[in-house]
Amino acid sequence: MRLDDWVRAPNISGNPAIYERENLALARDGRLDLALREVADWPGRTLLDVGCGTGFWSERYARDGATVLAVEPDPALLALAQARAADLGLSWLRGSAEHLPVPSDHVDIAHARFAYFFGPGAERGLAEVRRVLRPGGTFVAIDNSWRRGDFAELLRDAVGGNASMDPAATDAWWRDQGAQRIDVDGGWRATSADELEQILRIEFPGDTVDRFLARRGPVDRLSYAFALFVIRG
Ligand SMILES: C[S@@+](CC[C@H](N)C(=O)[O-])C[C@H]1O[C@@H](n2cnc3c(N)ncnc32)[C@H](O)[C@@H]1O
Repeated sequence: MRLDDWVRAPNISGNPAIYERENLALARDGRLDLALREVADWPGRTLLDVGCGTGFWSERYARDGATVLAVEPDPALLALAQARAADLGLSWLRGSAEHLPVPSDHVDIAHARFAYFFGPGAERGLAEVRRVLRPGGTFVAIDNSWRRGDFAELLRDAVGGNASMDPAATDAWWRDQGAQRIDVDGGWRATSADELEQILRIEFPGDTVDRFLARRGPVDRLSYAFALFVIRG
């Protein structure tokens, strides 16, 4: 398969070990998990994880009893994912949102977590998701909220006046696709303030992190709100 239109994600690709800690910090606060289960619970279902990265969440869904197809375009990340859970019967597949190596009408749940589906520009991937989703299936994209929480404050500081980041345009795009937006409060709980700082530094420019830490002092946790965009097939 020709894959020439994916974009390397520097936070995870350059720092997979720290990104793993970021996922663990997020997982310690179970509120997002609970909200996702209400949207589309996965045990016994076929779940597609689009842009699975190193497979942190794919593995969890498989351990909970889902049949998981995990798709990732970055070969280095895919290799890490394959090494993570060789025994669970997950299908680790090289592909992208625009090129899903999955038959039509095949999955009950399509899931994309901080991957590719950031609003305008994601039309080709969404067409692919609609193709592979079974009638009655559910697509859920997990993105950051720009409105609430410490993480949103960091995002706004990081983009400054960059008009290419327009949360209202993102919301309008999802509405045009027929998606429902669900806001979920959550948080990161790191194991130490040092660890939280390491995680922040793979996500944000140094001066944004410096300003945040100058305001807050050393902290091992932060509040984080998620925007879920849900499309029912
Ligand atoms: C921030 S990471 C999130 C990884 C994983 N979903 C997680 O939450 O741990 C974004 C992922 O999207 C992948 N990606 C980049 N372009 C993509 C595309 N066109 N289609 C699907 N995934 C893509 C990156 O390689 C990376 O693994």
